[in-house]
Amino acid sequence: MAEIIDGKAYATRLRAKVAEAVADLKRNHGLTPGLAVVLVGENPASQVYVRNKAKQTIEAGMESLAYRLPDTTNQGELLEQLEALNADANVHGILVQLPLPKQIDSHAIINAIDPRKDVDGFHLSNVGLLSTGNPNLVPCTPLGCMMLLQDRYDDLSGMSAVVVGRSNIVGKPLASLLLAAHCTITIAHSRTKNLAAVCRRADILVAAVGRAQMITGEWVKPGATVIDVGINRIDSDDGKSRLVGDVDFESASKVAGAITPVPGGVGPMTIACLLRNTVQAACTIDNLTVAL
Ligand code: GUN
Repeated sequence: MAEIIDGKAYATRLRAKVAEAVADLKRNHGLTPGLAVVLVGENPASQVYVRNKAKQTIEAGMESLAYRLPDTTNQGELLEQLEALNADANVHGILVQLPLPKQIDSHAIINAIDPRKDVDGFHLSNVGLLSTGNPNLVPCTPLGCMMLLQDRYDDLSGMSAVVVGRSNIVGKPLASLLLAAHCTITIAHSRTKNLAAVCRRADILVAAVGRAQMITGEWVKPGATVIDVGINRIDSDDGKSRLVGDVDFESASKVAGAITPVPGGVGPMTIACLLRNTVQAACTIDNLTVAL
């Protein structure tokens, strides 16, 4: 049976470290980092995420600013809101919750955020810095995955890593981070031939496809570390619903050496890394350093 990687416990420690850094910035520099989260529309999953982000921001001692705009908001109105947040000295991090309504061009919105305040790490400037090996702000979910891996392995160099999923939010930035850590990378996706065989080559297997329980134990190399980024809601036997990952935990945990559960694995790391990025952004903007 695989070791269970406790992302929830790791995230709790990371949030405590962020709270200490925030207390230090307040005490020694009179600086309270502020995070602005912009939600357009009424997507129920996004509303839950945004609420959790605000709650944990406040718990870490930071200022949380929430902007809820109607579903009918147009691109110009959202750009105007971002311009105001870019200019606001009390705002150090800006996050626009995705997905956005279809009348809005997400790329244009992401790239209108001041890259120094881009705590999602999605701005082209931050993507370029990461892929050229000089990272500034790094996307939160991939950063959380790397922290869990580096907690387990002192050195990832030479390991074979397979990332299933090629999104800009997870797959591509995580591949850049694993490459920087000297792994040999394969990015696989829905059109990859012999996907099971490709996955079986992985010392580190990351599932970020958004398909419930797609990756089974037969796809896992014995002893591999499996990182499950998926969060899918499925119907359960008792007529209710439950959360599962992109990995079939029951079969994969019999083969893997270590595995992240869902819930309680990568999920809690994402918001903890967002808080960390907000402190980092505040320090960069105000030209300060703090232990993180
Ligand atoms: N929607 C799903 N994941 C994310 C994320 O990491 N950042 C933002 N802004 N929106 C998301």
